[in-house]
Amino acid sequence: MHTTDAFVGLSCVDCGETFDAETATHRCPDCDGILDPAYDYDRIDLTPEDLQARPFDSMWRYEELLPFTSGAAVSLGEGATPLVECPGLAEAMGVGRVLLKDEGMNPTGTFKDRGQAAAMTAAREHGATDVALNSAGNAGQAAAAYAARAELDAHVYLPSRSGFTQKAMTEVHGADLTVTDPIDGNSQIGDSGRAYAEAMDENPDWYSAKTFVTPYRHEGKKTMALEVLEQLDWEAPDAVVYPTGGGVGLVGMHKAAREVRDLGWTDDLIPMYAAQATGCAPIVNAYEAGADRHEPLSDDEIDTACGGIAIPDPGASPLILEAIRESDGGAVANTDHEILDAAIEVARVEGLEMGATCAAAAAGAFTLAEEGELGSDDTVVLLNTGAGNKDVDTLRAHLGETEAAADGDAA
Ligand SMILES: Cc1ncc(COP(=O)(O)O)c(C=O)c1O
Ligand SMILES: [Zn+2]
Repeated sequence: MHTTDAFVGLSCVDCGETFDAETATHRCPDCDGILDPAYDYDRIDLTPEDLQARPFDSMWRYEELLPFTSGAAVSLGEGATPLVECPGLAEAMGVGRVLLKDEGMNPTGTFKDRGQAAAMTAAREHGATDVALNSAGNAGQAAAAYAARAELDAHVYLPSRSGFTQKAMTEVHGADLTVTDPIDGNSQIGDSGRAYAEAMDENPDWYSAKTFVTPYRHEGKKTMALEVLEQLDWEAPDAVVYPTGGGVGLVGMHKAAREVRDLGWTDDLIPMYAAQATGCAPIVNAYEAGADRHEPLSDDEIDTACGGIAIPDPGASPLILEAIRESDGGAVANTDHEILDAAIEVARVEGLEMGATCAAAAAGAFTLAEEGELGSDDTVVLLNTGAGNKDVDTLRAHLGETEAAADGDAA
């Protein structure tokens, strides 16, 4: 395999055992825990000055901190996204600075590209012919794109509630798409998970690209923190507010913040804040209860239009909660109304487009600022995980309702 010098294998977050990445491909062979890429940091021969000399062109410029070499990467130029100054939002929130990390600029329009670039690289390194996953939508589209690039056959399972763009583009990229219908009521991510699990039982040689089943998606998303820190001259912001579903990005970003602090490139961790919708907030509930893991919701308890964070049973909740607490961050939930209002405010005040799910970060930051958790000198990063045009229907419908309500008030 084309691994990097410092990458030493995969270590289990539950039992602590380390495995050779040639043979261990997904969950822990001993206890089924999540496997996490491990490095010998003494072997990392990279400095912030070296990075300055490299073009800001893709996430693979951090290859020394990734498992696979840039030469072996399945890449579409993902990462290297802008960190955009938002003075109007800073003023509206009463904080020092607001910056928006615009992951909508990625090849398929979301941060999922970073995780899928790493996962498809691993699949190809392991000689897979087929890859499979279920997803809320964006990860499925990203997997279809990167599988096409890697010449792998992709099998994507999406619930009927996922967006038209995500379903359409999954097929445009040539993936085999299964849309799961509701058993009763709305089809949620759990339905697509069951269909995916049945297919995996029948096809055990398919390489799973599912959240925290492959060890590499959070590793790819780690690069978001490396970029934010580099864009801030290796000074940690006071908050990153992150729309949290399965927590892949939050856990990955926290890992990177820890790594570069231990390498001496930064002094502090990044306080990580999980933003969720009140209609599906298992992480916020667990955080507020002081619990170490979440209480799962059932599919029919989900009540939010923000599909990417409509994740009722996030299996990695212990890692998410540990990251939030260790980094001295927090967790915040907002109603769909507040979230969609925030998307429209960002679009009007700054001209920036946030997806519906993503705008949970903006709404969350407004609430944290109101509660005094964010102060007038703080630098706040909103992680815009995906482009506004992924969710035009939801955003336009909200605008229509808001305008109708305003007309009703005026009449
Ligand atoms: C746009 C968007 N934001 C956030 C998330 C949640 O991602 P994570 O699993 O990293 O919490 C998703 C997942 O589907 C998404 O599509
Ligand atoms: Zn284990």
